[in-house]
Amino acid sequence: MAVVISSNGNSKAFDAKMTVYVFICVIIAAVGGLIFGYDIGISGGVTAMDDFLKEFFPSVYERKKHAHENNYCKYDNQFLQLFTSSLYLAALVASFFASATCSKLGRRPTMQLASIFFLIGVGLAAGAVNIYMLIFGRILLGFGVGFGNQAVPLFLSEIAPARLRGGLNIVFQLMVTIGILIANIVNYFTSSIHPYGWRIALGGAGIPALILLFGSLLICETPTSLIERNKTKEGKETLKKIRGVEDVDEEYESIVHACDFARQVKDPYTKLMKPASRPPFVIGMLLQFFQQFTGINAIMFYAPVLFQTVGFGNDAALLSAVITGTINVLSTFVGIFLVDKTGRRFLLLQSSVHMLVCQLVIGIILAKDLDVTGTLGRPQALVVVIFVCVYVMGFAWSWGPLGWLIPSETFPVETRTEGFALAVSCNMFFTFVIAQAFLSMLCGMKSGIFFFFSGWIVVMGLFALFFVPETKGVAIDDMRDSVWKLHWYWKRFMLEEDEHDVEKRTD
Ligand code: BGC
Repeated sequence: MAVVISSNGNSKAFDAKMTVYVFICVIIAAVGGLIFGYDIGISGGVTAMDDFLKEFFPSVYERKKHAHENNYCKYDNQFLQLFTSSLYLAALVASFFASATCSKLGRRPTMQLASIFFLIGVGLAAGAVNIYMLIFGRILLGFGVGFGNQAVPLFLSEIAPARLRGGLNIVFQLMVTIGILIANIVNYFTSSIHPYGWRIALGGAGIPALILLFGSLLICETPTSLIERNKTKEGKETLKKIRGVEDVDEEYESIVHACDFARQVKDPYTKLMKPASRPPFVIGMLLQFFQQFTGINAIMFYAPVLFQTVGFGNDAALLSAVITGTINVLSTFVGIFLVDKTGRRFLLLQSSVHMLVCQLVIGIILAKDLDVTGTLGRPQALVVVIFVCVYVMGFAWSWGPLGWLIPSETFPVETRTEGFALAVSCNMFFTFVIAQAFLSMLCGMKSGIFFFFSGWIVVMGLFALFFVPETKGVAIDDMRDSVWKLHWYWKRFMLEEDEHDVEKRTD
């Protein structure tokens, strides 16, 4: 059954305070994003650690020792990539189950399930004595990510007062970037702890997982989820508690109304295939593809490996990853600040040009100055790091957060969770593709990989220019009239649906 955020969305200002309780709930739930980020950031550092390679990937270790023989290929190993990518494949599968548990059990139990998967996964990965245990651990962590990434953004949107929804939604992305940064710092310090630094690094995710598990006992279920499951009295009480006002009748009625409406849609997935769903569906899915084909995760997963490729030593490579991680966090604040001012389109278009220039500069320097066996000169290596940082900046205030925000705000109420679940799994699928293929692509395409990503950035910039309408300030349930019906291309699908409705009525 479909789930709703609110029938009126922000079209109506309901009386609501930003209560301390909501603040605590937001922080605890967003810890789910922190674990996701930690998992993204930790794998690159761990796979660059010799102790880890010796234990699980001895052939990669051997090749690394002879790195001067081929800069671009020293880490190319399908199993090594599987260590990173298995998590995303598991998350993809899990997000479909998570969509069901979110509807049937609620958001809070779904987050609790996520933390349990995380804890078992961390135990297995950090304590691994063979490669199977290691990969199985990563798979369980992936289940955690699938459950967490479905429940947390939904929880945040439902619990936030409508006027703060955009900013609070990006808190999720902010926590992701903080998780990546913490992982980079942990990598930096644990790399000098022999021989088990990698175990500490992988085990570190246990701390936020515990916070999420115990923290989720303190937070409430969302009113929408309670009302949807016919716990109307509890739903109303919770609404009073989180809004900090006694009179919540109007908002309560709107949620009840939206839940009733959503209940009439028996099969939201079929509804998603109808013409009227085409714009949010196509945009939501393509944004995930484009987000990943900016090439961001080539940097997030493999930054230390990449920096070693261009000639940095182990420590310098890990430190550079800490620097990119810090820039990622700080630039996300720019996104939070600008998204409701300049709008989504401006950020997407500006950053496309911005990221394109960076990728081209990096590609040209590597093509010119890094041959297969030499190392990059100091000045060129520095320029590469600077352009990686500037590139990360652009991503952090645009395609990063907007990849999550836009699908969460453009699906109509009756298909919102299902549409969002598809977007999450699509994101995980393309993240998996990049994680699995990047090192082989680097080996095969060499510096050409940066031109490959540049090509996609041009395509996504054009897509944003022609097909992504502005949704800034538009009420969440008013997209159809205020956005799609007015768009030069998407309006045809709305007309098609209207004509179909008229035909049905006259039959
Ligand atoms: C993306 C991740 C990426 C992260 C980087 C997120 O929005 O979904 O794949 O690693 O941003 O900050």
